Amino acid sequence: MIKAFAGQHLLSVQELSLEAVETVFSVADRMVPFAERRMVTRVLEGAILGNMFFEPSTRTRVSFGCAFNLLGGEVRETIGMESSSLAKGESLEDTARVLSGYSDVIVMRHPEEGAVDRFAQASRVPVLNGGDGAREHPTQALLDLYTIRRERAALGLSLEGLRIALMGDLRYGRAVHSLVQLLNLYPAIEFHLISPPELALPPVYEEALRSRGHRVFRHDTLAPGLAAADIVYVTRTQEERFPSPEEAARYRGLFRLNQAVYTEHCAPQTVIMHPLPRDSRAGAQELDSDLDAHPALAIFRQADNGVVIRMALFALCLDVVGDVEKDLKPVRWYTGGRRP
Ligand code: CP
Repeated sequence: MIKAFAGQHLLSVQELSLEAVETVFSVADRMVPFAERRMVTRVLEGAILGNMFFEPSTRTRVSFGCAFNLLGGEVRETIGMESSSLAKGESLEDTARVLSGYSDVIVMRHPEEGAVDRFAQASRVPVLNGGDGAREHPTQALLDLYTIRRERAALGLSLEGLRIALMGDLRYGRAVHSLVQLLNLYPAIEFHLISPPELALPPVYEEALRSRGHRVFRHDTLAPGLAAADIVYVTRTQEERFPSPEEAARYRGLFRLNQAVYTEHCAPQTVIMHPLPRDSRAGAQELDSDLDAHPALAIFRQADNGVVIRMALFALCLDVVGDVEKDLKPVRWYTGGRRP
């Protein structure tokens, strides 16, 4: 089973079976001592990650880099089109041919749908999709589902009977597109899709959920969807994907989750998730900071989980899972502020 990942790209969650997802999660569990700075492994010593981000990123770029470093490897970054020879007219394919000679694995984010696939076809090393346009964000979906399982487990629950509300810009939100496809691998989930009609989940994803027998409800107001959910997954208006800033402005701040809305509509212990970044500018605030101290706010636990998921993916695709725990060393530096 583990061999199925070795040397393989990860471009879309469509490539993942339920068994493959469970494998990623079980390897991720083994990465917790390293991510929590209790132990050090050097299993990828000498390996190089090409971390190529042609769109802004904080979490995905840095957590991929940290994950590779925590396994002992080194990271070379390219940030922004303008700092690469793509700006001189070099093709994605030539860029892939060159950079795959310098790297053992490549992570790439690109604003165009399908660009990471094109790059991967010309690459000689595995390529992991760090987000391509509005299409997919497969590693975000894996860390989101891992978080959902952990948050449910903390309440003594499994995924069985899960009711999830997905709220905001479901049309352009690539994290949502990947997450609903992963959830579709599991049985009997209830989906509440909360969005303005113009920003509804693309029909292809909704039809796939219905055809697998999931219950799907669409809402264009907050209250009914929030009241019915165990988990609320809030999203930002993806203004960079809209045809014009004026059009994006029509939807910014339309749906907001804050302490008052949560208290009025959500059941106690409803878990709050968001792939981040959230838009904290005045007029947006789809997820208000007045919920920051709420124990059900999982957004920073969610971001932390990105490290173990990405470590697991590197260990699997570079085929070192069996060696990760060899030659362990204890951490020597002060870690008191880092451990959960
Ligand atoms: N969730 C996510 O993709 O965040 P970044 O854009 O900061 O990488």
